[in-house]
Amino acid sequence: MFDYIKEIAKLKKEKNAVILAHFYQRPEIQDIADYTGDSLYLSKVARDIDAEMIVFCGVHFMAETAKILSPDKLVILPREDAGCPMADMATATKLKEYKKNNSDTKIVSYVNTTAEIKALSDVCVTSSNAETVIKEFKDEKLMYVPDQNLGSYLKDKFDLRMDLWPGFCYVHNRFNLEDIEAMKHKYPKAKFLAHPEMKLEIVKQADYVGSTKALLEYTKQSDDKQFLVGTEVGIIHQMRLASPDKEFIEINQDFYCRNMKKTRLEDLYNALLNEETKITIPDEILEPARKSLDIMFEITEKNA
Ligand code: 13P
Ligand code: SF4
Repeated sequence: MFDYIKEIAKLKKEKNAVILAHFYQRPEIQDIADYTGDSLYLSKVARDIDAEMIVFCGVHFMAETAKILSPDKLVILPREDAGCPMADMATATKLKEYKKNNSDTKIVSYVNTTAEIKALSDVCVTSSNAETVIKEFKDEKLMYVPDQNLGSYLKDKFDLRMDLWPGFCYVHNRFNLEDIEAMKHKYPKAKFLAHPEMKLEIVKQADYVGSTKALLEYTKQSDDKQFLVGTEVGIIHQMRLASPDKEFIEINQDFYCRNMKKTRLEDLYNALLNEETKITIPDEILEPARKSLDIMFEITEKNA
């Protein structure tokens, strides 16, 4: 049988490549990656790493972000069809129209957006740093693109003057209050962890709210032994590796991201071998998109 793990390691060395994988990837992809993490961490690695090639096991906007931050490196997305439906809910045409009618409003875009949307934005955020970054803009009129759930969470928490783009993550938006209540009833001792891409009414029921990385860290340091995991099921792989003595319960096994699960070992091998699919971004988009990411890093690093 073809040994993908061995062959991937060989190609990686030959091509001076690094493999980055998001926490929502399949366990075998997370295990073979050089760096596994959330959106913020992986974008920092992409910006700072010394390598000729980055193979990004994630979805399209993540590989695009890596290219914006490391334009001189070859950035490869193993599955061309691994997109993020939420990122596609914000189009440049509509955002340009909004900006024309609201010239006094600052555009805050979630990292889950296309490069074109980032280029039209004043600043970017990820779920890890959204609260830190938004505090710097709390006196401004704001538009948050495209996740209305994360936007509602920020608006509610900081009492912001903020318009919300009508976008959502189809995975997180599927969690409903009845599911959560039933699970809390079934596991009364479990702590309920929520990603802010879920609806605000659900996030308000959580014992802890955070990005995938923050949820993982919480489970590591907590004395509790049982957790209801309110985000895409992929993160449970890392939670179990880090805390084998604790129990991690999926709210519903069907709440997984089809796009994140597209990448298999075979795709990763082919991506390294054929150097496909290459991410390219025109300079006139790359430069302003980079600016909105740089402002995000500047604020995050200043507040670290
Ligand atoms: P984080 O990695 O920032 O937690 O975001 C989750 C997500 O939906 C990525 O697509
Ligand atoms: Fe997009 Fe949601 Fe999948 Fe993340 S989990 S890539 S936001 S669809």
